[in-house]
Amino acid sequence: MGRFDGRVALLTGAASGIGRATALRLAADGATIAGFDRDGEGLAAVAREVAAAGGRMTSTVGDVSIRESCMAAVEGAVEAHGHLDVLANIAGVCWSEHVADTTEESWDRMLGINVSGVFWCCQAAIPHLIATNGNIVNIASNAGLMGQAYTVAYSTTKGAVVNMTRSLAMEFIKEPIRINAIAPGGVDTSMTRNYSLPDDLDFSLMQPYIGFREMADAEELANVIAFVASAEASRIHGAIIPVDGGLTAG
Ligand SMILES: NC(=O)c1ccc[n+]([C@@H]2O[C@H](COP(=O)([O-])OP(=O)(O)OC[C@H]3O[C@@H](n4cnc5c(N)ncnc54)[C@H](O)[C@@H]3O)[C@@H](O)[C@H]2O)c1
Repeated sequence: MGRFDGRVALLTGAASGIGRATALRLAADGATIAGFDRDGEGLAAVAREVAAAGGRMTSTVGDVSIRESCMAAVEGAVEAHGHLDVLANIAGVCWSEHVADTTEESWDRMLGINVSGVFWCCQAAIPHLIATNGNIVNIASNAGLMGQAYTVAYSTTKGAVVNMTRSLAMEFIKEPIRINAIAPGGVDTSMTRNYSLPDDLDFSLMQPYIGFREMADAEELANVIAFVASAEASRIHGAIIPVDGGLTAG
């Protein structure tokens, strides 16, 4: 018996990194996965991995920053699998730039994906999750808990995810649903491997958010997401859980 037997989990960002690892983790624990990502090839590859391990995954290709796509992904998951038990908002983007170089397009794109995408998926999924006593796990970041030089837009979006999570938790506190977020520190994924920094940096400003420990593996994050989404975490609601190796502890 797996702890997610009979459960359906919709994962945004399932094509790569933390999303991929979470799809494999939850499927290994018995969940049926509905993946939602803009990267169709990546989704198909993860679906093959899930199937090879004996699990089941369906895919929706779309952009989380578009409300209609989020509605379609949620409705598609419920139509395909009959119900929805878990929504994990994992899709996200991150880049660094000087404040003076931030364009309106870059700002709007970051907020559209990292904030609006989370909200639209929550909005669409909440009625279905209330029906199943389900739950939401949002992926914030240490950048949502502390100020970070050169990632002002990213930190703004992750701070918004932190308080969106708390506010949703309060609005639905009388309903049978749990809503939480985890706040990872650095994780070894394509996001960090392909990261580029702007010129003319003062590295001493970045030291407080580099931390002392090595980056986490995506699987370490998937394990925490699985715990928070499971019945074992039944008392956790409205929490922001740092998973950062002590980065925000001091
Ligand atoms: N890697 C880290 O160090 C780190 C640290 C803290 C928080 N996070 C957060 O974890 C989450 C996952 O990041 P990751 O490290 O696995 O990165 P990743 O780049 O490996 O995966 C991100 C996924 O999101 C998808 N995505 C991006 N924009 C999208 C859009 N508009 N619509 C649909 N899908 C979209 C990508 O296609 C990709 O599959 C992000 O929210 C990120 O901000 C990552």
